[in-house]
Amino acid sequence: MTTVPIAVRSFIHLGAMAEGLESSLLASGWQRIPVATLAHVSAALRKAGSRVALVDLGDGDATRLRDVAALISRHTDVEWLAQVAPAALDGAALREVIYSSFFDFCTAPLDVERLRAALGHAWGMSELGPRVDAKSQAGLGLGGMVGESPAIRTLLTQLRKLAPIDVPILITGESGTGKEIAARNLHALSPRKDAPFIAINCGGLSEKLVPSELFGHERGAFTGATARKIGRIEAAAGGTVFLDEIGDLPLDAQANLLRFLQEGTIERVGSHVSIKVDARVIAATHVDLERAVAEDRFRQDLYYRLNVLRLRMPPLRERDSDVEHLARYFLDRYARELGIRIRGYSLAALRALSAHPWPGNVRELMNRVRRAVVLCEGGLIRPADLELDGEREDARMLSLDEARAHAERETIVRCLQETRFNVSECARRLQVSRVTLYRLCKKLEVSLG
Ligand SMILES: Nc1ncnc2c1ncn2[C@@H]1O[C@H](COP(=O)(O)OP(=O)(O)OP(=O)(O)O)[C@@H](O)[C@H]1O
Ligand SMILES: [Mg+2]
Repeated sequence: MTTVPIAVRSFIHLGAMAEGLESSLLASGWQRIPVATLAHVSAALRKAGSRVALVDLGDGDATRLRDVAALISRHTDVEWLAQVAPAALDGAALREVIYSSFFDFCTAPLDVERLRAALGHAWGMSELGPRVDAKSQAGLGLGGMVGESPAIRTLLTQLRKLAPIDVPILITGESGTGKEIAARNLHALSPRKDAPFIAINCGGLSEKLVPSELFGHERGAFTGATARKIGRIEAAAGGTVFLDEIGDLPLDAQANLLRFLQEGTIERVGSHVSIKVDARVIAATHVDLERAVAEDRFRQDLYYRLNVLRLRMPPLRERDSDVEHLARYFLDRYARELGIRIRGYSLAALRALSAHPWPGNVRELMNRVRRAVVLCEGGLIRPADLELDGEREDARMLSLDEARAHAERETIVRCLQETRFNVSECARRLQVSRVTLYRLCKKLEVSLG
């Protein structure tokens, strides 16, 4: 009688196996779960919760290879082993599929020692590999906002607090830091969540179109106005209107928006009837609105109205520890979306990611990863795939100066957030003068709001 060890590991097998071989494997703790056809593999993986599969590629028939590659791309968390006839290894297509999609291969007739070793390695890798998913999930905060750095944690706490308060919110932050995704989360966490969320890019509208887009128009209000049109603010009734790039709003429209914020009413272009609209305003800007006010490009009274509550999106360089989380999250997402099987990042790629200064923030990271997923060969993303190979690849040990700057930046950013960007209070807590704090912020590229 065969003694079965307690810790049995299972693998899915599509193909034939000699009985003797199967019982030898079982004796060493490997349970074979046979499946009859390729179409049954997904269900079997799910049912058994197994993360290792052995597939007989037969003689390397092109259709079968294509189907196998498609199946593998849908299960990026499984380690795949190929079973092949030695003669079939001469086929270019089969070699290509094995190289790009499989963890390892064994030639027929299967040798028990070789197979046991391959299964063991594949199992070990599967234990490591799927952490890609688990890691990105762990860092998944609110509605699709990934990150675990102190800066993003503070932001998410503020976001949760501000969401239910029914007053305008101003979101500031550099391009690509996540202003829109934050606005969507504010809406989703507010009592207005079941009503519309309407986003308007104020910078993307021509000056002439702005009033009609925002407030709507009556039929005949201007040449071409052949029918009444409901504006975006009215369309957001009961919900939230997101005014992106508010700094680009022309001055006339600023006056109308101010009236809406003060009185809760709008007038469609071509009409003098005031219509009550209940919509919460969330505005976003990547420009310094205070400077725009000082330069008379933005109304001060509107600025005060909008700036009741402020949410500042930290740039990626202030959230170093999030870069890897985000990179893994995007890799997982695009590999899945594009049906491409990718094992992960090379060590050099991870170093290059953390050394890059990310001027384009999360959007830049997202775009680099998407491109890398498409360009990558052999399942491992390298610095060149991310177009980061020209950078400090030897980067690793930080110099003392770099480490100090790092620590200073983190401390200042956290304190600024805790004091809601009150520079005097922040300077007091950090026991430096305001002037020193300003100087440090400039040197360390920390923005003050
Ligand atoms: N923390 C995050 N986790 C996951 N994805 C994020 C995160 N922050 C931003 N993104 C993604 O990055 C992209 C850029 O974010 P978003 O459009 O919200 O930025 P933005 O500040 O509005 O940029 P811009 O100023 O250029 O309009 C989006 O696709 C968004 O989903
Ligand atoms: Mg945006």
